[in-house]
Amino acid sequence: MAMKHSSLLQYLLLLLTTLASCDDQFLFSGFTQSSLNLDGCAIVTNGGLLDLSNGTAMLNGHAFYPTPLHFRKSPGGNVQSFSVYVVLSMILTYPDLSADGMAFFIAPTKNFSDASAGKYFGLLNEKNNGDPSKHIFMVELDIYKNAELKDIDDNHVGININSAISEKYSTCGFYEDDGGAFRNFTLNGNKGAQLWVDYDEGTTQINVTFAPINMGKPSRPLLSATYDLSTVLSNSTSYIGLSSTASAINSRQYVMGWSFGMNKPAPTLDVSKLPKLPFLGSKAHSKLLEIVLPIATATLILSLCTLVILVVRRRMKYAEVREDWEAEFGPHRFSYKDLFHATGGFKNKHLLGEGGFGKVYKGVMPSSNVEVAVKRMSHESRQGMKEFVTEIVSIGRLRHRNLVPLLGYCRRKSELFLVYSYMPNGSLDKYLHCEEHKAILNWAQRFRVIKGIATGLLYLHEKWEKIVIHRDIKASNVLLDGEMNGRLGDFGLARLYDHGTDPQTTHMVGTKGYLAPELLRTGKASPHTDVFAFGMFLLEVSCGQMPVKKNAEGHEFFLVDWVLEHWNNGLLTRTLDSRLQGDYNIDEANLVLKLGLLCSHPLPSSRPRMREVMQYLDGDTPLPELRPTQLSMNMVAMMKTNVLDSSVVPYPQILTSFGTISGLSGGR
Ligand SMILES: Nc1ncnc2c1ncn2[C@@H]1O[C@H](COP(=O)(O)OP(=O)(O)OP(=O)(O)O)[C@@H](O)[C@H]1O
Ligand SMILES: *[C@@H]1O[C@H](CO)[C@@H](O)[C@H](O)[C@H]1NC(C)=O
Ligand SMILES: *[C@@H]1O[C@H](CO)[C@@H](O)[C@H](O)[C@H]1NC(C)=O
Ligand SMILES: *[C@@H]1O[C@H](CO)[C@@H](O)[C@H](O)[C@H]1NC(C)=O
Ligand SMILES: *[C@@H]1O[C@H](CO)[C@@H](O)[C@H](O)[C@H]1NC(C)=O
Ligand SMILES: *[C@@H]1O[C@H](CO)[C@@H](O)[C@H](O)[C@H]1NC(C)=O
Ligand SMILES: [Mg+2]
Repeated sequence: MAMKHSSLLQYLLLLLTTLASCDDQFLFSGFTQSSLNLDGCAIVTNGGLLDLSNGTAMLNGHAFYPTPLHFRKSPGGNVQSFSVYVVLSMILTYPDLSADGMAFFIAPTKNFSDASAGKYFGLLNEKNNGDPSKHIFMVELDIYKNAELKDIDDNHVGININSAISEKYSTCGFYEDDGGAFRNFTLNGNKGAQLWVDYDEGTTQINVTFAPINMGKPSRPLLSATYDLSTVLSNSTSYIGLSSTASAINSRQYVMGWSFGMNKPAPTLDVSKLPKLPFLGSKAHSKLLEIVLPIATATLILSLCTLVILVVRRRMKYAEVREDWEAEFGPHRFSYKDLFHATGGFKNKHLLGEGGFGKVYKGVMPSSNVEVAVKRMSHESRQGMKEFVTEIVSIGRLRHRNLVPLLGYCRRKSELFLVYSYMPNGSLDKYLHCEEHKAILNWAQRFRVIKGIATGLLYLHEKWEKIVIHRDIKASNVLLDGEMNGRLGDFGLARLYDHGTDPQTTHMVGTKGYLAPELLRTGKASPHTDVFAFGMFLLEVSCGQMPVKKNAEGHEFFLVDWVLEHWNNGLLTRTLDSRLQGDYNIDEANLVLKLGLLCSHPLPSSRPRMREVMQYLDGDTPLPELRPTQLSMNMVAMMKTNVLDSSVVPYPQILTSFGTISGLSGGR
């Protein structure tokens, strides 16, 4: 029985010591599924790191070993030897600015709701700092120099009893085993570190040892103090924990591993098996990330930006204006991009000439290799644009061998482009008025051009489905194709400019010298005004002179007056272009000159129609017998009969006031 009793007692004792030994040692190699109690901003990351401060400023974080430990064998007994080992790392968000730090501690409670953030390590506050009833022992890792707490620097380790003011301090570092030299260690240098805290019951000696992560425990501790923890720790159980605190500047405190032993050394941890710190990879990898990645990213962003800018600029460069109503003109619509490339970007090299509506460029369409002349005009308002384009395109549909073919158009912001077939021999005015022009047109060529233009104009006036008024007949709008046929260009263009405007306030469209008197008065274009300009054109071609000339004194006078005067004196053929050198068909020359005078008759109703003009030129009908005196007498008669009718202005009066009127109306 006694035997049985004693063995039972032994068994119970064994059980008790086994139970006791259960909480006299622990080891955490990473914290995944650990049973730690966390509070404040402390968390365990997915990677198994204990993150004591999640990056939020002015917050504390605590991690407690969940069960209280019996540091005394029995209540009132001495605090036993113990040993603690922590693998940790501290990171500052702003490397040049220090925040407060972290601590290992032993305390009677897990309730630190009254502790303040910042310099008290989340364990104490201003009031209870130094209070012996707190029963707190701690080892601080301090990265901020608080002068009022007698801190030595902003990178130190201290042994503290119930207070944020340390019993013993040292700049953080370690003593080398070889030679014992001191090596300092920057706590917030983003490097892993090891901390050992050892207490010996017999000698009441506290050793704090520090080392970088990649080396063994130095034999000489960083700090050594003699302090009887039996006078400090609670008479009953205590909790052990790790705390962090952050002030206004947030810092990160990571713990990778933690072990504890009572009356025995803390179990060692295999550093290579600990969770990796967020910033610790292989050296090469981090170099790659730190240098190559930002450069690559920057390059990528830069090239993307460049690409976007290029695309946008390209879009802008070739941007066009397109409206719904244009859909039906699809085939006549050219893309700006094509025109831009065709004309070499509208370079001056490709400039053919400049008129009142804009510049004309020569181009070759990229797809079809067709030679074109592109007229670039600016238009400010959209008003009337639809009517204009509609008309231009519908006119453009007409094809006649004496009209310059209009191939299409393009619209863009405030510009309108008209695309014509290129006329290799240019405009007639160059042959008539350029002194140095090698090729002078002979009479036969001139007469052919005149007949051609008359045919073209007749077509516009009478042969097409509706009456088209040219409005700007003159030598520069007569172009010569490859076979030296005269072709009328720019028909209908003037409409854009006098569309729906008040004739009294706006300037006339047309060219000085070609404007019929009634056009000047009423601003209304009609087939008669075209015939008037055609008459001027006949005189211009046969005399080789501009409709408005300057005499020796610089006074302007009119070609019509000059021709009429010569006719009066019986010297009509003297007015012919001297460059013909007398080589002309006298009948044809007389016909053209007289017809020119008849067409430019001041009375619209006295001018022939284009049908009649054609018959005279073809010789089918003889020109009505006209005499200069008769013409003049007609004028006088007209003046007499219509003197009270202000709507008709007699010829002589027109002739004298012509210059001033056309000067006022600003021919271009
Ligand atoms: N289809 C074309 N083929 C070849 N050259 C052309 C063509 N169209 C125009 N040109 C040239 O461009 C020049 C300028 O033409 P533009 O029509 O702009 O001026 P303009 O005829 O002098 O005056 P307006 O504005 O009254 O028509 C012309 O003189 C002519 O030499
Ligand atoms: C940090 O922890 C605190 C307290 O749990 C929480 O309110 C805060 O949102 C956390 N911040 C981040 C960035 O996770
Ligand atoms: C923590 O302590 C404070 C007083 O310091 C108390 O008010 C609070 O109830 C305690 N919290 C817990 C969970 O015990
Ligand atoms: C660390 O030690 C070196 C010399 O070993 C010294 O120059 C340096 O100032 C020290 N750094 C700190 C922060 O104490
Ligand atoms: C403290 O360090 C000293 C010097 O290395 C050593 O002699 C002593 O045993 C250590 N004490 C403890 C508790 O580790
Ligand atoms: C522990 O209790 C004893 C008496 O039971 C008392 O004398 C002593 O002061 C207590 N120590 C602490 C630290 O509270
Ligand atoms: Mg022109």
